[in-house]
Amino acid sequence: MLNLIWVFVVLGLFLISGSVSVNPNAQKQLDRVSKLPGQGFNVNFAHYSGYVTVNEDSERSLFYWFFEAVDDPSSKPLVLWLNGGPGCSSIAFGLAEEIGPFHIEKDGKTLYWNPYSWNLAANVLFLDSPVGVGYSYSNTSSDHLNNGDARTAADSLVFLLKWLERFPEYKGRDFYISGESYAGHYVPQLSQAIVRHNHGLKKQVINLKGFMVGNALTDDYNDYLGLFQFMWSAGMISDQTYKQANALCHDQSYFRPSEQCDKILEQANEEIGNIDSYSIFTPACTAKFSILNHLLRKSNSVGHLRRSYDPCTEQHSKIYFNLPEVQSALHVHMRNSSFKWVTCSEEVSSGWKDSPKTVLDVYRELIKSGLRIWVFSGDTDAVIPVTSTRYSINALKLPTVAPWRAWYDDGQVGGWTQEYKGLTFVTVRGAGHEVALHRPKQALTLVKSFLAGTSMPSLELISDS
Ligand SMILES: *[C@@H]1O[C@H](CO)[C@@H](O)[C@H](O)[C@H]1NC(C)=O
Ligand SMILES: *[C@@H]1O[C@H](CO)[C@@H](O)[C@H](O)[C@H]1NC(C)=O
Repeated sequence: MLNLIWVFVVLGLFLISGSVSVNPNAQKQLDRVSKLPGQGFNVNFAHYSGYVTVNEDSERSLFYWFFEAVDDPSSKPLVLWLNGGPGCSSIAFGLAEEIGPFHIEKDGKTLYWNPYSWNLAANVLFLDSPVGVGYSYSNTSSDHLNNGDARTAADSLVFLLKWLERFPEYKGRDFYISGESYAGHYVPQLSQAIVRHNHGLKKQVINLKGFMVGNALTDDYNDYLGLFQFMWSAGMISDQTYKQANALCHDQSYFRPSEQCDKILEQANEEIGNIDSYSIFTPACTAKFSILNHLLRKSNSVGHLRRSYDPCTEQHSKIYFNLPEVQSALHVHMRNSSFKWVTCSEEVSSGWKDSPKTVLDVYRELIKSGLRIWVFSGDTDAVIPVTSTRYSINALKLPTVAPWRAWYDDGQVGGWTQEYKGLTFVTVRGAGHEVALHRPKQALTLVKSFLAGTSMPSLELISDS
């Protein structure tokens, strides 16, 4: 009886003192998500969502959503997924449109199961990073206006270390980081922060094995070179604009071009017309949101990394993740009544501070450290096109280990691949900026090969016997 009273006292103390002193395992149980609003089907894996405080002084808190693997999670690696922007939510894009198990129907209220979810291959962790993105926040609101590459990497490292306290079964587990677009900065930078943190440690709780990025911002000079070449050879822009763009954007920042360069990008955008630059051969979403589209056009234009492939798809998540019952099911902190969840935060991107013009130096360091590094590219993206990525990789001057060849998926060419010493390059044929949105099956094949450390599949010769 006395013992029981003590249990209540201790439990009461936990409740009174709030999340700060809840022990990690108890917090994990509190983060467990049960059935979501609009989820008309059962799933046989556990998932969790909530916050990790990465800075006690300014009270910065990052939101995560973690999905255990469908089968045998204890034997599978851990994969962290990051979207870019900067300012775009990994929940909005990676989870709800690309590689996550739950996608959202047109009504914005109903969920459906994605049969190519990456949690068929791994335990997958989505992180809204940095503060101001998605449900992530800082109680020092000026933090939202003062993000940058360096603090994003530092906060993400703290996040991982603290998250692993809450999920200790993943300490030492094979760990990989993946992402796309502006996460072409985040992923190598976080990998570098982990490698440096691990240096000299006897016991490495973050057992980083490698990373993989897609349509990734890598090196502004080469990314521009490839961008204009791609647009010109796809027949999207005039000879004159092609020449001017090369002259005026030479050596400019991709993320924040000079006025002159921006002007020529606008001109290119005029010539291109109302297509989806993130996926040039698929229809643009014009049905319901055409007026909105028009208003948003500037931020959708070439050279801007914010928007996703399908603005219609984005509209569905904007409804779903603003539903109070969804936020409560996901343990979202209700900060104030005027908070509105957005797919990409203008506040975050416009206030962005440091953004180096290249991360090739980070690649050089990490290739030396022996990480498995894969770079993929959807070859119908005109925002960070396949030509940009090829120029950036070529700038590393790596020796070739296995020459250029086609890879296959169900007897069809899925894309092309070349293996370099320290880096594997894979294209995905017919995919836009968000590869897994356009080619979900090929994207699952890709991540399986990456995690297994095997080459992309060749054509299987069917014997006639
Ligand atoms: C931020 O402030 C809110 C409201 O005062 C509080 O509930 C929350 O715990 C704070 N967040 C952090 C990370 O301390
Ligand atoms: C509520 O949050 C929004 C978005 O973070 C912020 O812009 C606004 O100032 C906040 N309002 C109050 C009353 O704190």
